[in-house]
Amino acid sequence: MASRCIEYKGITFPPGYNSVESLCFAEEKFQVRDDDIFNVTYPKSGTVWMTEILSLILNGGNPTWNQNVLNSLRAPWFTTCLGLETAHNLPSPRLLTCHLPIQMFPKAFFSSKAKVIYTLRDPRDVLVSYYHFSKMCVPFGDPLSFDHFFVNFLNGNVLFGSWFDHITGWMEQKGKLSIFFISYEEMKQDLRGSVEHLCHFLGKNLDKAAVTSVMENASFEAMRKNNMCNSTMLPKDVMDQEKGTFLRKGICGDWKSHFTVAQSESFDKVYQEKMQSLGGIFPWEQV
Ligand code: A3P
Repeated sequence: MASRCIEYKGITFPPGYNSVESLCFAEEKFQVRDDDIFNVTYPKSGTVWMTEILSLILNGGNPTWNQNVLNSLRAPWFTTCLGLETAHNLPSPRLLTCHLPIQMFPKAFFSSKAKVIYTLRDPRDVLVSYYHFSKMCVPFGDPLSFDHFFVNFLNGNVLFGSWFDHITGWMEQKGKLSIFFISYEEMKQDLRGSVEHLCHFLGKNLDKAAVTSVMENASFEAMRKNNMCNSTMLPKDVMDQEKGTFLRKGICGDWKSHFTVAQSESFDKVYQEKMQSLGGIFPWEQV
């Protein structure tokens, strides 16, 4: 983990963009508008993919916005100083992005009509993706070896805290607030159905051709070619393109080519302990 990371309420955040003040502001004072749409994830769960999908849905499938405006300006990271300013200046309805655990989410959300889309992903694939991402994303700090990162991830000793706590915290709100839960795996399996469900949740009527355009423009291949979302516009001291590719593989089950049998067993043990209360409801548990 990066040595200069920010610590806020017991959770570590990457240095540079976040500060204790910006995180505190996001929680305590961020003004939520009733038509805000929050894209919330634990890192590496499909955040940037969801930003593309939501940007396209808001524009009825028209890809012009996605192709000409950086994703961080379309769906700002409002927990950062820079993102906060962008968010303040955006017209409604706003798309807003964060990796915040529920207990740090803007307080104003809970008395608003704003919506959250929470995307989750098989934590084993999250771990693998997070490991590779940490090698190229400078503020995240060198993960050292896969074995080292594996242990840290299981212990929650990574930026943005424990995957298990993040997921269980958000899932406890299911049915209580305007939160739409969707998984990376569902989107991979049935993108059309997923886009249609998202449209329904957002009250957007897209015809078949518009949904097709969303699917095409948010495909892994299209996103890889789009400099507005493939991270290549970021400076080298943030994202070192020589050390990896942000849109790396985009598949389910890559953990199988990374985990040893022993790692798989110890992962399952921790997973069962921590997820007992929610067990059996996620797509990756069905296989
Ligand atoms: P991999 O590293 O497994 O390839 P985030 O945006 O939360 O950081 O998540 C990044 C992960 O989502 C990466 O996973 C990336 O390749 C994947 N991803 C992004 N866009 C995608 C798409 N259109 N289809 C499938 N996977 C996508």
